Amino acid sequence: MFKDLRASTKFLILCLVSLALASVATYALLAEKQIAISFARSEIVGSKYLALLRPIYASVLKTQSTRSPDDRQSAAAARSIDSLLRANADSGGLLHVENVVKALSAVLEDLDRSNSTNNSAQANYLAALESLRELAARIGDDSKLTLDPVLDTYHLGNIVVTRLPAALEQLGQAQLLARTTEAANISFDRKPRLIALDTLLRANIDGVTKDLGIAQRGNPDGNLKQLLDPAAASFATSTRAYLDALRAFIGAGTESAAQSNASYAGAVDAALGAWDATQNRLEQLLQQRIDDLSRQRLISLLVIGALGVLALLVALLTYRDMIVPIKRLAELANTIRKTKNYGLRFKHESRDEIGRLGAAFNEMLGELSAAREREIMGQAEISRVSRLATMGAMVASIAHEIRQPLAAVVANSHAGSRWLTRDEPNLNEARAALESIAENGHRANEVISSIGAMFKKNPNRRVPVDLNEVVSNVLNLSRGELQSRKIDLHTRLASELPRVPADPVQLTEVLLNLTMNAAEAMNTTAEDLRVLVIASALETDGVKVTVEDSGVGIDAKNTEQIFEAFFTTKPTGMGMGLAICRTIIAAHDGRLWATPGNSRGTVFHIVLPFGENANADHALWTADQTV
Ligand SMILES: Nc1ncnc2c1ncn2[C@@H]1O[C@H](COP(=O)(O)OP(=O)(O)O)[C@@H](O)[C@H]1O
Ligand SMILES: [Mg+2]
Repeated sequence: MFKDLRASTKFLILCLVSLALASVATYALLAEKQIAISFARSEIVGSKYLALLRPIYASVLKTQSTRSPDDRQSAAAARSIDSLLRANADSGGLLHVENVVKALSAVLEDLDRSNSTNNSAQANYLAALESLRELAARIGDDSKLTLDPVLDTYHLGNIVVTRLPAALEQLGQAQLLARTTEAANISFDRKPRLIALDTLLRANIDGVTKDLGIAQRGNPDGNLKQLLDPAAASFATSTRAYLDALRAFIGAGTESAAQSNASYAGAVDAALGAWDATQNRLEQLLQQRIDDLSRQRLISLLVIGALGVLALLVALLTYRDMIVPIKRLAELANTIRKTKNYGLRFKHESRDEIGRLGAAFNEMLGELSAAREREIMGQAEISRVSRLATMGAMVASIAHEIRQPLAAVVANSHAGSRWLTRDEPNLNEARAALESIAENGHRANEVISSIGAMFKKNPNRRVPVDLNEVVSNVLNLSRGELQSRKIDLHTRLASELPRVPADPVQLTEVLLNLTMNAAEAMNTTAEDLRVLVIASALETDGVKVTVEDSGVGIDAKNTEQIFEAFFTTKPTGMGMGLAICRTIIAAHDGRLWATPGNSRGTVFHIVLPFGENANADHALWTADQTV
């Protein structure tokens, strides 16, 4: 079905499919970038909320310092809690931290109210630290900060979401243990816990250093190292210093407690500082990623747009230079087929395939018109030759036809002179002989003038013609031939036939051909059955003449083929007669066809239209003459 579609339809389908393909590809590309951008945006949101935890950590952890938190710190922590409580709504459904924040704020309130040394205060303190770490982890999860280890920001994210909150919690726990131990003298069961916390913290310091190292490897320009190394180093050093002091304290007792208190504050500050620096850098990297993605998206859009415009241009050019010319060529071929005007040419000035096709088409047209001219000339010549051939076959009968009246003239003149040279001349007989001479002279003249018409070259004139006259003319020429072939001739001619516009000589040729064909078809018919009927009649669409024989008939499969040039079943036939007859009749806007005869033989029918000026000048003719 597709192959029957018009070229322009196929082209349209191609364009639409390409358009759909391009749209899908563009959409996929943009969607992919959009997903990556919103991913990074959610990470930035998470990072911003993580920043809110810092003042709370500061405020909580400093309750264990010798310096209690000042009002400024408490106020900052309270503001952070407020902001965090709004986080759910502000993050547009990204964070689900409400319950954790509520728990945290309850714990913090309790912590504020309680005395720092009693047991419930310690429990609240530990619960607050745990809540804070949990919150950090939740924010990290919800904002996907530590979701994809492939991203360059993963390790920085891990530091701010996991490592540092854990380190801060461990610092806080260690300090609580140290302080309570200080008050109640060191007990055996707390010592191992302190040692365990010491190990965990050192492991955390290593973890931060390791994450940072990996993050730096993914950051070839080195500014990450420059920016973060000092903060990380300070965190490592102060935390180690604190741990060392703590060990000394565990080993030595109360004098070292003051020292460990001092380095505790330093370690907390350093950890919060490292957190701050890492987080800032993380946000910068995320923002940079968003910018890169947006730029890439813009470039992709521009490239796709440019390609789209280019594709449109190519499509337009293809339509103009291929589809339209092909359509024009097809139309031209159609026009030429209908009008047979081989003088038309295809105009297309290009050197592409279409141009070459057009040139080849034009050349072919040139050859066609030359061939057609040759054919027309050839046909005219063949027609003349065939006419002469038909005439050649007629010569014998014509000679016979003329010899008869001439013999009669000679005989009558002898008889007449005899009647006159008698002793008593018989004038009546002599007059009768002279009349007979005149009559036979007339007859000879008729035959001769009928022949004269046949030998004119290129007659081609239209005059009102009485078809009955043409029939009689043809019979004048062929009567002798028909007689010698023992053919019984009947004519059934309609009287008062209107004249038709025609070339009488050409019509004579047609009828002569049909008559000779009929005579030849009856060669093998028994002599008493050889009948030729020529009839004329008035039909609604013109004047009809039929030539019917009782000959061999025509094979049903050949009823059309016999009209083709060079089709013949006769050993010496040319096969041109009927082809010429049909050409002549068609040139008169008439029709010529053959049907089987009633009992045997064949009927040839000619219908010639009345023409535009059908006149009332009817020929008179007597019906049913029998020879
Ligand atoms: N009256 C007819 N009866 C039977 N066959 C005919 C008759 N007229 C024509 N034909 C067939 O048509 C063929 C073509 O006729 P024509 O074109 O006059 O060429 P030709 O007479 O040279 O063969 C003949 O060879 C013959 O087979
Ligand atoms: Mg013939």
